[in-house]
Amino acid sequence: METARSLHSLLLLLLLPLIFVLVDARSSSIDAISAFYQTLVLNEQKLPLMDMKIPATDCIFHKPRVEKETATFEMKERDYCSGNIKHRDKNLQDRLILDEIHVDSLLSRFKYATSLFTPHDISDTHLPLTLGTSLQTLNYLVTVRIGPQNLTLIVDTGSDLTWVQCLPCHLCYNQQQPLFDPSNSPSFVPLPCNSNNCSAFQPTAGGSGACTNGSSNPCDYEVNYGDGSYSRGDLGFETLKLGNVSVENFIFGCGRNNKGLFGGTSGLIGFGRSELSVVSQSSSVYGGVFSYCLPSTETGSSGSLTLGAGDFSNFRNISPISYTKMVPNPQMSNFYTLNLTGITVGGLKLVVPRLASSNGVLSLLDSGTVITRLPPSVYKALKEEFERQFSVYRTAPGYSLLDTCYNLSGLKQVKTPNVKLHFEDEGEMSVDVGGLFYYVKSDGSQICLAFASLADEYQIGIIGSYQQKNQRVIYNLKESKVGFAGERCSF
Ligand SMILES: *[C@@H]1O[C@H](CO)[C@@H](O)[C@H](O)[C@H]1NC(C)=O
Ligand SMILES: *[C@@H]1O[C@H](CO)[C@@H](O)[C@H](O)[C@H]1NC(C)=O
Ligand SMILES: *[C@@H]1O[C@H](CO)[C@@H](O)[C@H](O)[C@H]1NC(C)=O
Ligand SMILES: *[C@@H]1O[C@H](CO)[C@@H](O)[C@H](O)[C@H]1NC(C)=O
Ligand SMILES: *[C@@H]1O[C@H](CO)[C@@H](O)[C@H](O)[C@H]1NC(C)=O
Ligand SMILES: *[C@@H]1O[C@H](CO)[C@@H](O)[C@H](O)[C@H]1NC(C)=O
Repeated sequence: METARSLHSLLLLLLLPLIFVLVDARSSSIDAISAFYQTLVLNEQKLPLMDMKIPATDCIFHKPRVEKETATFEMKERDYCSGNIKHRDKNLQDRLILDEIHVDSLLSRFKYATSLFTPHDISDTHLPLTLGTSLQTLNYLVTVRIGPQNLTLIVDTGSDLTWVQCLPCHLCYNQQQPLFDPSNSPSFVPLPCNSNNCSAFQPTAGGSGACTNGSSNPCDYEVNYGDGSYSRGDLGFETLKLGNVSVENFIFGCGRNNKGLFGGTSGLIGFGRSELSVVSQSSSVYGGVFSYCLPSTETGSSGSLTLGAGDFSNFRNISPISYTKMVPNPQMSNFYTLNLTGITVGGLKLVVPRLASSNGVLSLLDSGTVITRLPPSVYKALKEEFERQFSVYRTAPGYSLLDTCYNLSGLKQVKTPNVKLHFEDEGEMSVDVGGLFYYVKSDGSQICLAFASLADEYQIGIIGSYQQKNQRVIYNLKESKVGFAGERCSF
């Protein structure tokens, strides 16, 4: 009896640590589960822009916020400037088609650019600069002050020159705001074609490089976009006001011939990698750093675009910032190229030779592409693993380039596996649930994993804007690195 009891106590003593270990394991596995899964709340009311007509006055945004060596701009989807909205489902479906056109022209430019670097092709012939951009997939706008005017512009990280429609205008599309009028701005100075600045910047701006009609002629530029849109005009200096800071002698394009799908905006602001981009031209103030947070498409939601990093305390990130380096890409030097080295789905690492430890998929980080494109072998592995972990839900037919689709109609919320993209060094982007699925039908009866396959295994990958939602994405041009952190985007 006595021995039985002490044996019992002994057993209890021996088991006690084990019980604690078990309890510990349980609580940490709960944390682990929340790192592996997210909850998707399906709520039709929160879906964006249901056939809503948005007043064009919304084309002017809040004034920028200035804090500790940074200026933060409100950033909205371009629908907020167009003054009219198509039926939402139709709109989202059209965007996928435009996204394919955009990627096709981007990739064809890549091939073309490669051939440019073979020695016999280098010549003095004038090549108009064509961007791989289909403008309708460039979805985000900011308002900046150029000279005396506030102008709302399309944000593009894939090009460098900032341009606005300019008076006198030979050909201008309709815009919501008054046209930029240089004659009304004491700070406007045209760049003559024989100036150092013209010869320094004109090649990037796609100008003719000639002073055909005497040295007092303006320094011309020409940008052509992949969908046939273009802007042509001449370069000038102007004062660009960014927050409480003025960038004097900012070189920009005064567009006299502009045609295409620019919505109701006043032009485009270039955040590319070259000397001509607004990041480079403001680097003495903002250190060559900018970042953005793209909002998920809920009615009225705003994101933000920040110049400068300050001491980072201005960012509202909810997870730590992780960095990866920018990979040099001479063929597309104005784009940001990263080295994608791994993908995990619900905590499980995909096993694909293209993502083996000694490899990596070169990928453009592109705000002008909507849906992320991966090499066929990598996409196939992602699709299979996602389908395996999401198999309790009813599948739905594919739509356009998307082929991993579900019918979630009637469900209130759904647990989804986390998809994380890993980049060289410690860079890690955890795709927010708002950027995981593309709603082909707003009632949830056809929602698709928002990733797609490239046509060819060795084409360059693209990290699209959809997956970048609710992320603080930081571009540091001085240190050639890109950072990611989770954030609930707002202004
Ligand atoms: C431009 O916007 C600023 C606020 O950012 C405002 O103070 C100013 O009055 C506006 N100017 C014009 C001409 O609209
Ligand atoms: C801009 O505002 C910041 C923060 O208020 C301040 O530190 C900085 O000196 C200001 N810069 C100028 C040029 O006014
Ligand atoms: C542009 O012109 C200004 C004034 O002549 C000069 O200080 C500056 O260095 C020039 N920039 C370039 C890139 O040539
Ligand atoms: C050159 O100048 C003449 C006279 O000002 C003008 O008629 C002609 O169109 C100009 N040519 C070009 C290519 O700008
Ligand atoms: C991509 O990263 C992998 C793993 O670190 C490395 O082996 C590979 O050389 C990198 N590729 C490029 C082009 O930098
Ligand atoms: C989706 O599922 C519902 C049942 O929950 C069904 O009524 C509907 O027809 C399905 N829609 C499609 C497009 O398959």
